Amino acid sequence: MSDTPVSETSVSAAHQISPSLTATLPGNYYTDPEIFRQEQEHLFESMWFCAVRSADLAGPGAFRTVQVGRENVLITRTRKGDLRAYLNVCRHRGARLCMEESGQIRRNLQCPYHAWTYDLDGKLIAAPNLIKMPDVDRVEYGLIKVSLREWLGYAWVCLADEPPSFEDTVLHAAVERLGDRAAIEHYGTEHLALGKRIVYDVRANWKLIVENFMECYHCATIHPELTDVLPEFADGYAAQYYVGHGAEFGEEIKGFTVDGSEGFARLPAVSADQDRRYYAITVKPTVFINLVPDHVILHRMFPMAEDRTVVECDWLYAPEVVESGADVSKSVELFHRVNEQDFEACERTQPAMASRAYRKGGVLVPNEHHIGIFHEWLVERLGGSHAGPVH
Ligand code: FES
Ligand code: FE
Repeated sequence: MSDTPVSETSVSAAHQISPSLTATLPGNYYTDPEIFRQEQEHLFESMWFCAVRSADLAGPGAFRTVQVGRENVLITRTRKGDLRAYLNVCRHRGARLCMEESGQIRRNLQCPYHAWTYDLDGKLIAAPNLIKMPDVDRVEYGLIKVSLREWLGYAWVCLADEPPSFEDTVLHAAVERLGDRAAIEHYGTEHLALGKRIVYDVRANWKLIVENFMECYHCATIHPELTDVLPEFADGYAAQYYVGHGAEFGEEIKGFTVDGSEGFARLPAVSADQDRRYYAITVKPTVFINLVPDHVILHRMFPMAEDRTVVECDWLYAPEVVESGADVSKSVELFHRVNEQDFEACERTQPAMASRAYRKGGVLVPNEHHIGIFHEWLVERLGGSHAGPVH
């Protein structure tokens, strides 16, 4: 950030703007509960949403509940071993079935209110006195299913009645960034094991976190450890936006670790031209994937309110690395620091979104151009009704 004090003059000057600069979204996009509600409806409840890591649900009846837009979704594993997602709502009088974030359903799922009981396939199998209520159709009153797809070892759910094409909306992001689909498959993410998970409760709007992830203009200022490992980041270019390119490790760097020391063996299918490189992919609206030769870092965002986002970050390694009890702390520490630095920047920005200085938004410099594309995409998804009232 420049040290120039923001005055009314400099704000309006920014919006007359020379052709090389563009405006961000106005501040109310980050503070207005009504805009957040529209995002819940048109994004999180309409698109594919990366909800849980499949392996977290180890056996039949293991469950996890997650907030997807305004809905609470229950994801569990059936006796046959398949993952299923349901609205976490009893069909009788609407009690929430599972209150915990995770746990184990012992045999069947019994509502704690009047004891309606569902099997793991969501079918209503028992209800007290049901025998006296022959009209209750056990399939008709089963749990309401939510669409689910697995990719990269994660369960992606979609609340839409007719989900958009998974290929076009989710898989396409990887193709767009890496040049071809096979490039991400090389990391074999679905076979990796969880080395570490850290959950961050960030007091910022989810879009500030996306925008931050999309640009590396800030890298030289706030990420000393990352720019040591990836010297080209010090130039402020976001390597993820150069298709197939990836950011190269510095000459002295042995691995993607906090001190540049050696990491683990390259994942078996990672190609020679992917070696010693870092790739970053954003899968809109809420997922970031980082690929390095020996591990994968996957962030899932859970937007909870206009000014609060929970981020679950998983560090994934070859199973033999995790099973051997190897010390993964040096690679975890690198991106944990990056996360803390990024989220602190987002939290520093959030309160200013309500300032009169940001009523018309801020400015995007040329190497933040793709953030402008994200804004256009967002405004279009919201129906364009909020586009540019102050531009
Ligand atoms: Fe669930 Fe009545 S609300 S059994
Ligand atoms: Fe960053």
